[in-house]
Amino acid sequence: GLVNSREMFKKAMEGKYAIAAFNFNNMEQMQAIISAAVECKSPVILQVSSGARKYANQTILRYMAQGAVEYAKELGLNIPIVLHLDHGDSFELCKSCIDMGFSSVMIDGSHLSYDENVALTRKVVDYAHQFDVTVEGELGVLAGVEDEVSAEHHTYTRPEEVEDFVSKTGVDSLAISIGTSHGANKFKPEQCTRNADGVLVPPPLRFDILKEIEKRIPGFPIVLHGSSSVPQDKVAIINKYGGALKDAIGIPEDQLREAAKSAVCKINIDSDGRLAMTAAIREVFALKPAEFDPRKYLGPARDSLKELYKHKLVNVLGSANTV
Ligand code: G3H
Ligand code: 13P
Ligand code: NA
Ligand code: ZN
Repeated sequence: GLVNSREMFKKAMEGKYAIAAFNFNNMEQMQAIISAAVECKSPVILQVSSGARKYANQTILRYMAQGAVEYAKELGLNIPIVLHLDHGDSFELCKSCIDMGFSSVMIDGSHLSYDENVALTRKVVDYAHQFDVTVEGELGVLAGVEDEVSAEHHTYTRPEEVEDFVSKTGVDSLAISIGTSHGANKFKPEQCTRNADGVLVPPPLRFDILKEIEKRIPGFPIVLHGSSSVPQDKVAIINKYGGALKDAIGIPEDQLREAAKSAVCKINIDSDGRLAMTAAIREVFALKPAEFDPRKYLGPARDSLKELYKHKLVNVLGSANTV
């Protein structure tokens, strides 16, 4: 069945790798995630955002995740799979997911005052732990837009708060802000420098803050949101076939590789999958304009997604061959 994240993060900490949390809201994404994880012998986290619940229906997604467990076995390996609520914004939403069988939830009180964040997170933890559901909290605010909340600048996590937050709330993992952000436009070109080949290089993540946090809560699982790398080959295909993505810039993979070796145990990736799907679909539409069977474009999109996910598990997060 579905498992919570506790054992997964413990092993990731010991093995110096990170678990991928991939967002899903449809069947092709779920199949790509699970087949990639099985082939790579990797645990994986399926995560559902509020937007995904609205789009696809929470009940459907919950049973799709149950189907994912059976699908993995059918493919030949019973990998650990977590069904996680991404960016839960209220106790009621978290409770609804817990009651329905999610094995993990995030309560994102990062935009609240510190004391309100502690109180809300504590309330979710007290409920979740009765059912052995793990809880992710967040301290610090990522720049960019998520759901209705938008922030112009990063508010980096304050290392001096993490120990108090973790002990007062009882959370199982902590999402932090060290320079990542959601979406495909993580940096403005003017924030970047150019390397010898003229490629834009974004400012590095604040590993100094991460190290300070690790010092204060040694061995505690840290989560990085907004960790898509925005592969430029996908952006180029999208734009070649009629897309209009401008200044799409992500987190360089070598920085995620470095993060995965640290106390960072969960790395969230959504946008890269969206880019892979969109590139594949645009290519089919452009090259085979007579196709109108959705399987003829969603199939290639699923194949492309699976390749992308395998790459992440094997070459970036390092969780391959741990099951
Ligand atoms: O946190 C952001 C995730 O990429 C989910 O995005 O809210 O558009 O589903 P969404
Ligand atoms: P990206 O937009 O960088 O893929 O981040 C996804 C995320 O953090 C989901 O919670
Ligand atoms: Na790690
Ligand atoms: Zn996020």
